[in-house]
Amino acid sequence: TTSPLKDSFGRHIDYLRLSVTDRCDLRCTYCMAEEMQFLPKREVLSLEELEILSGAFIDRGVKKIRVTGGEPLTRKDIMTLMARLGRRLEKGDFEELTLTTNATQLYHHADVLKSVGVKRINVSLDTLDDKKFTQLTRRNVLSKVLQGLDAAQNAGLKVKINTVALKGFNDHEIPEMISWAHGRQMDLTLIEVMPLGAIDEDRVDQYLPLSAVRDNLETQWTLDPMEKRTGGPARYVRVRETGGTLGFITPLTNNFCAGCNRVRVTCTGQIYMCLGHSDKIDLRAALRGENPIDELNSALNQAMIKKPERHNFEISKRGADPSVLRHMSVTGG
Ligand code: GTP
Ligand code: 5AD
Ligand code: SF4
Repeated sequence: TTSPLKDSFGRHIDYLRLSVTDRCDLRCTYCMAEEMQFLPKREVLSLEELEILSGAFIDRGVKKIRVTGGEPLTRKDIMTLMARLGRRLEKGDFEELTLTTNATQLYHHADVLKSVGVKRINVSLDTLDDKKFTQLTRRNVLSKVLQGLDAAQNAGLKVKINTVALKGFNDHEIPEMISWAHGRQMDLTLIEVMPLGAIDEDRVDQYLPLSAVRDNLETQWTLDPMEKRTGGPARYVRVRETGGTLGFITPLTNNFCAGCNRVRVTCTGQIYMCLGHSDKIDLRAALRGENPIDELNSALNQAMIKKPERHNFEISKRGADPSVLRHMSVTGG
């Protein structure tokens, strides 16, 4: 059938996270190893193929498409795809087109993003301290990121900052980052680090439960729970003193899988039904088959049958293997 996507637990899947490249211009220590093998270009879907693929999802009821990576703005001519998707957005075929970026190259693209119909973007930023930024990302480009944020806000894009909470690294800076973001009319969402991919550090040393962060914030601020949802996994509060919105993404301390509405497609056209599982289906083969649309639709039906109930992330044992071997940069979070 070609009906709206629904999995075997009755969850409606209307959110596609589309990774357009596995490459990134940063090397965040919790995300990647310094030495990474990236895919040869020939493995990667063309912009035309990404457009056809997105179209198949839109035709099956997907309402929100978030373009991710790797770093999506490192993909050559990515704005061509954004503009094509923007046309279908304008026709009302789906509701939201957006992007998650590290913002290093955002100042080149902010105006175009706005003009193709993007309204808000999420920017990954874990520290405002220049030295720490360079230590964490292994690249000295915080000033570019800040320029990118200015450009985005000047273009009229709403910005949400995503901050991964990292023990002994940014725990003391979190209140300051919230004040900074809220002071410039940006939302901020905190994220628990997840055990994805082999990295150069031990996850046990990085993991900071957001339950503890929240308790700490409540010693200085009043956090009023909000109904607001954005279709992602975050739960939101309003910080009474700043008036701004603060999100919590808590895969480890407060599971949100019951409300899962999303699937991920990698830049080689593999659909992963869950961030926390290795099971995947090859949509590229379908896309390059005799009857692409029919083959894509039956692959999507298979994917719905196979989508698991939840992840089983765990960070407890020192030296343990990651729950999932692929890096976040493959599926884009
Ligand atoms: P909004 O549209 O603003 O709600 O964004 P979003 O949270 O859907 O997307 P974003 O790219 O900002 O995601 C932030 C982070 O949340 C990701 O990088 C992941 O770390 C985490 N995340 C998003 N979706 C999932 C999910 O389905 N499962 C888990 N475990 N984590 C997720
Ligand atoms: N756990 C949690 N978040 C991660 N990110 C990358 N790797 C991890 C991980 N292991 C985040 C980035 C960015 C988003 C795309 O995913 O910081 O905000
Ligand atoms: Fe959905 Fe898997 Fe993420 Fe849970 S971990 S919200 S099931 S993708």
